[in-house]
Order: sequence, then C-alpha cells, then structure tokens
Amino acid sequence: MKRLIVLFLISIIFLPIFKISFSNDDYTLAFQSGDRFKLYYKIVNEDVYFRMEGKTLGYVSIGFEPSQAMKDADMVIGYVVKGNVYAFDAYSTGLYGPHPEDTTLGGKTDIYDIKGEEKDGFTIIEFRRPLDTKDKYDAVLKIDKEIKIIWALANDDNFNARHYDRGSGVIVLKRQSVITPPVQKVVLKLKIGDRTMYVNDSQRVIDVSPVIIEGRTLLPIRWIAEPLGAEVGWDGNERKVTVNLSNTKVELWIGKNIAKLNGKDAPIDPNNPKVVPVIKDGRTLLPVRFVAESLGCSVEWDPKKQIVTITYPK
Ligand code: HEM
Repeated sequence: MKRLIVLFLISIIFLPIFKISFSNDDYTLAFQSGDRFKLYYKIVNEDVYFRMEGKTLGYVSIGFEPSQAMKDADMVIGYVVKGNVYAFDAYSTGLYGPHPEDTTLGGKTDIYDIKGEEKDGFTIIEFRRPLDTKDKYDAVLKIDKEIKIIWALANDDNFNARHYDRGSGVIVLKRQSVITPPVQKVVLKLKIGDRTMYVNDSQRVIDVSPVIIEGRTLLPIRWIAEPLGAEVGWDGNERKVTVNLSNTKVELWIGKNIAKLNGKDAPIDPNNPKVVPVIKDGRTLLPVRFVAESLGCSVEWDPKKQIVTITYPK
C-alpha cells in the first residue's frame, strides 16, 4: 500500500513533464533545439511527412536549403487558430524575407494532409510533401544526404510576423525499415448440416448450414468472405456474384459451371459440370472449395466428420 502511495505521488509530480511529450507514432526525430523546436519525419514511398513541434501558440515554421540566412529557403509556416489549422508553402526571396507563398511567385502549393493542434503551450503542425515536388520554389529533399534547415517560432498567428526564436541546423532523412506484421492465419471450420462454424477458435452461428449438392459443399459465401476480409458483390441482372480479396477477383453465375478467375474462364469442377452456384430458399449458395481455393486458401475435407477446413493464407 505504501509503495502504491509513493508511485501515485511520483506520477503526480511527473505528470506535467509527461504531458508535453506528445505521441509520435512512427515518426523519427530529425532535429531538435532543446524543447523549443523539434522536427520529426517519416518517409512513405516518394513522400515525406513532417511534424513540427514549437514552443509557441503562434506560428511554427521550417525552411529547407537556404543559400544564406533566410534567402531561397523553401518554407512551410503553420499555425492553429481556434482549432483551425493553417499551413503555407512559401519561399524566402530575400536574406531576411519576405517569404511569399510559392503560388504568388508562379509556383504551386505542394503540402498536403495538413494537421495540427495547440497543446500545453506547443503548436504542432504535420504535413506531407513529395521528396521532389518539381516546383522550383521547393527544395529537392534527398535521402541519406545532408539538408540544411532553418526554423523559427513567432508569438503571433500571422504569416508575416517576425520570429521571437529561430535557429538552423542540418538533417539527414533515412528510409525507415518497413516492419511487416506477421500474417495472421484464419482457419474456418464448417460442418455439413450444422449451423455452428468456427473462425479460428471462436464459434459463430450461421443462418444456413452447409449442404452437399452434386458431391460438393455449398454455402452462402458471406460466411467465408467476411472472416477473410473479402468483398462480395451481387449483380441481379446477370445473376452474378463477385468476390474480391487482395488482387484476386472471382466471378460466378447462378446455374453456370464456368466461373471467371481474374477475368479468365475457370471450370468450377472439372470432374463434374453439374456443380454450379444455386439459389435455394432464396439464398445464393456457392461451391466452397472452388471459391476458397481461387482466393488462395487451402481446403481440407474430412468425410468421416463431414467437416470442411479452410485455411487462409495456405
Ligand atoms: C515575415 C517573417 C520574417 C521576418 C520579418 C524575418 C526577419 C528576420 C530578420 C530581420 C533577421 C535578422 C535578425 C535575426 O537574426 O533575428 C532574420 C533572421 C533569421 N530568420 Fe527570419 N524573418 C521572418 C521569417 C522567418 C521564417 C519563417 C524563418 C524560418 C523558416 C526564419 C528564419 C530565420 C533564421 C534562421 C534567421 C537567422 C539567419 C542567419 O543569421 O543566418 N525567418 N529574420
């Protein structure tokens, strides 16, 4: 109990410090000047996301590749007014400004996905831009190469306000290694004549139990599509079902023994032309093995227990 009280007191004392360390999800710190200015980034394909954190409730700004002082810097200036976020793609034409917007110089605005907030005395601005915007008023940001930066903070939410704090430095952008989460296997178990199915180890009650017609198991496809994350479409005119999963598209027609797999004809059951999608009691039932295998699943059939096991991916 005593220990709990001590922990509680420590957490109260340190709370204000923790409050200013914002969550930066997958951003990497590129540059920092004390706690006054921090620049984070993440690279996604040919774009870079930046996140500026400045100790001000006025504007926070970054400039890339100035030739001298502020001159020729490709700037982004952002601020928040009553919850609304503003950010400008600008360019400093002079040693100490002015820094008009690129558009007024004949360039374009190349910053996107602008987000921001004011929190605990800090202004946070996030934006995305291509590494190479092809605009002559923007710097080409090269990976693994030194990039000169300048930064500034103003007390004012005014694009033309003079800074009260400013600085300069060098950053190097690196492509972060992409962490691919391990693929989660989905195992579905269905029993003929039974309305209980299993998705991995959890039970689900389905509205129609699987049936065997012409020696093949048929089932409303949504019970398979949903747990796999596949999309199902129905075209009433053509009486066609479309199932899409990642890059695979399967099209089947009621009563037709030839389906299409990624646009190419595919027999549903080469050994039995009578295996076709059917409508039974107002429900569309599809041959499970054909659809599941086409989508990249493995299908096992236990004739003794009358159980179909579908595993995705194989
Ligand atoms: C209208 C807005 C601005 C005005 C009027 C302005 C004006 C000035 C002036 C007069 C100086 C020289 C005095 C000093 O060193 O403080 C200066 C320097 C500087 N400004 Fe600005 N500035 C503006 C915006 C910006 C912005 C948006 C940035 C960054 C993106 C910036 C970055 C700097 C830096 C890094 C210096 C020091 C340059 C050096 O001495 O090498 N300024 N600015």
